[in-house]
Amino acid sequence: MIDVYDPVYIVTILFFVLALERMSSPKTARSGIIYAGAAMLAATVATFFIPGLGNLWLIVFAAGVGGLVGWYAAKKVAMTDMPQMVAIYNGMGGGAAGAIAAVELLGGVGLTYGSLSVAGAVIGSVSFSGSVIAFLKLQGWMRQRPITFPGQQPLNLGILGAAIVAGALSLVFSLSWILAVFFLLALGFGLMLTLPIGGADMPVVISLFNALTGIAVAMDGFALSNYAMIVAGILVGAAGSMLTVLMARAMNRSIGNVLFGAFGAVEETGTSIQGSMKPIEADDVAVMLAYASKVIITPGYGMAVAQAQHKVKELADLLEQKGVTVKFGIHPVAGRMPGHMNVLLAEAGISYDKLYDRDEINPEFATADVVLVIGANDVVNPAARRAGSPLQGMPILDVDQAKNVIVLKRGQGKGFAGVENDLFYKDNTRMLYGDAQETVAKLVQAVKKV
Ligand code: TAP
Repeated sequence: MIDVYDPVYIVTILFFVLALERMSSPKTARSGIIYAGAAMLAATVATFFIPGLGNLWLIVFAAGVGGLVGWYAAKKVAMTDMPQMVAIYNGMGGGAAGAIAAVELLGGVGLTYGSLSVAGAVIGSVSFSGSVIAFLKLQGWMRQRPITFPGQQPLNLGILGAAIVAGALSLVFSLSWILAVFFLLALGFGLMLTLPIGGADMPVVISLFNALTGIAVAMDGFALSNYAMIVAGILVGAAGSMLTVLMARAMNRSIGNVLFGAFGAVEETGTSIQGSMKPIEADDVAVMLAYASKVIITPGYGMAVAQAQHKVKELADLLEQKGVTVKFGIHPVAGRMPGHMNVLLAEAGISYDKLYDRDEINPEFATADVVLVIGANDVVNPAARRAGSPLQGMPILDVDQAKNVIVLKRGQGKGFAGVENDLFYKDNTRMLYGDAQETVAKLVQAVKKV
């Protein structure tokens, strides 16, 4: 007999796949989120129709409280705090997957499903404790720099090995104290794995933990014979893994280097930078912009902090009215999360056909009269081309090839990687200091007067 929840699960799965497909373009991404949310709600409601479900009101109460907290937090969160919110939500998913596995193991499941539960428990717990560390680092409640000590990797390997042994024992004996030791070891491993990873690499790590949570959910799905969990988990696992690889590739790093390279642990020493940063006033920049034939704007994290995107749109429109060609060069890891800049610029109403990715825009910098670098730093740092720099090998936007480069930032602060920026000292670069939103507003007024 077909149960009520079966057809709902099938439709849900179709909607998850459709949602992912829609998220591949900024134009349809918003509807993709709605599809996925609606499908998740339907799957959750359908699960209540599984026969033999106990503690119904406790579940409704917990889901209600969780849903309210999630809804309120998502409404309140600042765009710049989104990565840590993703981290903590994802960690909750991993924790839930681990808890489900714990219930299965305590119930004394058979060897096949038990092994899947043990694997799900390890992966879910690692994702939970690792995501908590990622959250603390990104929120600034914990030292961002990698925490390293001698013998760290062998110790971590030892903890993982002990967790797996304890997991196997809990499978055989189903004793709660062995299970407790198993979970403590698995949680400890997630913690120890994340401590030596620096704040700059956290978005990649969050994406990896997200993939792990998906895999843990899929394993729980096998143990519970719940195919909506299996498919949803595999989708999250696959999409998260691909995103992790893409992000690492955009920084020219391997996943192994992100996880075990302790990037950012060593302060940069002995740069070959000479000269000084040369300031400029908004009125002078306005003249350069108004008489340019081609202007390229490269936004970064600072534009997000300043919420300058609406003013940037105003400036771009104004310049276009004056006959200037305006393009946007977007680095894949500009900002703090994938697609950060695209989302902000789209929110301000800048059309997608003006946004160019790194490979498309790099050959154009040499023909640009002015490049406006708005709150970007690492992604335009030519130090990446220099041997020995911590950024060495990171593909950058070649803004230094332009005739004139104007950098908008508040002061002389370094970028996220903590590396001095060669660009700021170049002869063709001028610094326009101030909060990006205020500075762009000044530029709009000044361009109007030209
Ligand atoms: P960053 O290198 O972080 O530099 C941002 C700059 O914005 C800072 O130098 C800061 O200088 C300036 N700024 C901050 N607030 C400002 C404000 N209100 N007005 C004007 N300027 C302001 O940014 P980026 O170039 O976008 O690079 C992103 C970094 O994050 C890279 O290192 C990247 O690898 C890392 N990362 C990103 C991702 C993703 S997926 N996006 C993933 C992993 C790692 P002042 O303090 O002087 O103002």
